[in-house]
Amino acid sequence: MAKKIKVNTVFNSESMLLSKKSPFSIQEAYKTLRTNVSFSLPGNNCKVIGVVSAKRSEGKSSVSINLAISFAQLQKKVLIIDGDMRLPTLAAKLKIATNKGLSNYLAGNTTEIPIQHIEERNLDIITSGNIPPDSTTLLESDVMADMIEQLKEEYDYIIIDLPPLTVVSDAAILSKLIDGYLLVVRHNWSEISKIDETMRQLRFAEAKVLGFVYNGKATESKYYRKRGYYSSDYYYKKS
Ligand SMILES: Nc1ncnc2c1ncn2[C@@H]1O[C@H](COP(=O)(O)OP(=O)(O)OP(=O)(O)O)[C@@H](O)[C@H]1O
Ligand SMILES: [Mg+2]
Repeated sequence: MAKKIKVNTVFNSESMLLSKKSPFSIQEAYKTLRTNVSFSLPGNNCKVIGVVSAKRSEGKSSVSINLAISFAQLQKKVLIIDGDMRLPTLAAKLKIATNKGLSNYLAGNTTEIPIQHIEERNLDIITSGNIPPDSTTLLESDVMADMIEQLKEEYDYIIIDLPPLTVVSDAAILSKLIDGYLLVVRHNWSEISKIDETMRQLRFAEAKVLGFVYNGKATESKYYRKRGYYSSDYYYKKS
């Protein structure tokens, strides 16, 4: 029987993240991504989605947050976890305190799962916590598996923002807990050889890859035109 999970509330008024004020093309791209993810993972049970890429700065954290926001906009119960314990960014991007987070819980420094609630986004988050000496061991632990099992009782979607797979193997280690991975690639930045290596590692871990998110391509939507506006195009393709 899962224990009741306590949630703290955080208010966050400022944001450049996905909202009703975002350019139409970006809102539409996230709706498409959200729809394709739901079709790829049918059923009413909780879905655990890992967001990964080959190398740094391809947009994993941005995609994780905005996909979470997109599901939350449908009144889904969504939790986002900062699984990048070496170079975490979710707390800063969402402008919330880091407090105790994933590493503290996995290391046994806190007994309650450290969930914070972001009221105006209808979103829950577990930040990364203090940077641990060995995040891989923490992620591999039974405590991590038990925590995800408990959380699945409470949420519709759990989105885990992961570190780049050609830098550390943490993302693949979680393959047994993750229902599907999204692989983010970035326009003019990703490298085919590294994507290849990432796919090899995911396949070796018997991970289910839902598809790719093509991030950062300047685009001009027929619905949204504004000269010089740097937009982005999130493109989901079923692999
Ligand atoms: N589509 C986009 N348009 C413009 N800037 C973007 C876009 N996607 C991401 N960025 C910016 O690029 C930087 C890296 O993005 P992000 O942190 O999401 O990548 P990441 O893959 O999580 O990086 P890391 O590997 O360091 O965790 C950030 O400054 C982010 O604001
Ligand atoms: Mg990141």
